[in-house]
Amino acid sequence: MKKISISTQAFPGPMPVAIVGAEVDGTPNYLAVAWITRVNFTPPMLGIALGKNHHTSKGIREHGEFSVSIPGVDLMKATDHVGLVSGSRIDKSGIFEPFYGELRHAPMVSECPLTMECRVVQTVDLPVNEFFIGEIVGVYTEQRFLSEGKPDMKRINPFVLSMPDNHYWSLGETIGRAWQSGTEFKP
Ligand SMILES: Cc1cc2nc3c(=O)[nH]c(=O)nc-3n(C[C@H](O)[C@H](O)[C@H](O)COP(=O)(O)O)c2cc1C
Repeated sequence: MKKISISTQAFPGPMPVAIVGAEVDGTPNYLAVAWITRVNFTPPMLGIALGKNHHTSKGIREHGEFSVSIPGVDLMKATDHVGLVSGSRIDKSGIFEPFYGELRHAPMVSECPLTMECRVVQTVDLPVNEFFIGEIVGVYTEQRFLSEGKPDMKRINPFVLSMPDNHYWSLGETIGRAWQSGTEFKP
């Protein structure tokens, strides 16, 4: 099969869409984030890559705390909105109902089915972005989003972003079990 070379502005695949919250100058602020990943097993840690000039980044630097809230598809437009406008120009504090766990400066989004609060343990300085690595110190959901005590993606109904075409997608059907389906593979 003939391969063609395309732009190096490439992405490995669909990315989970999250709302990151921080307190900036005493006010909750939120932005949409797709460059987010788990980076350590124990203790559990998450990494988020944020533009250095974002208003939210200022608050994370100030307090060393941030939240990650996973929106369902019903929050797609509100999530896109907090990814379009900056808290440096428009007050985004009233868009969601904030709640707090253990940390005092990591406002989580009540409307989201799954939320986490993180304490920054390391910051990696990159040319355009900062990669904030945070330890997850609290995770919150509601009984209706769990199955057998675990977050149920069908109930949470998250959405993902593809880049560079910039489309949101909902999840499809489950196609197998991880760390199990491979036992049926015949080389
Ligand atoms: C779907 C989506 C995903 C985004 N992902 C990121 C991201 O991972 N990192 C980032 O720095 N900006 C990301 N952005 C852009 C910021 O959310 C956007 O610039 C926002 O207005 C910054 O807000 P702030 O200045 O109030 O922090 C994303 C925007 C959208 C719509």
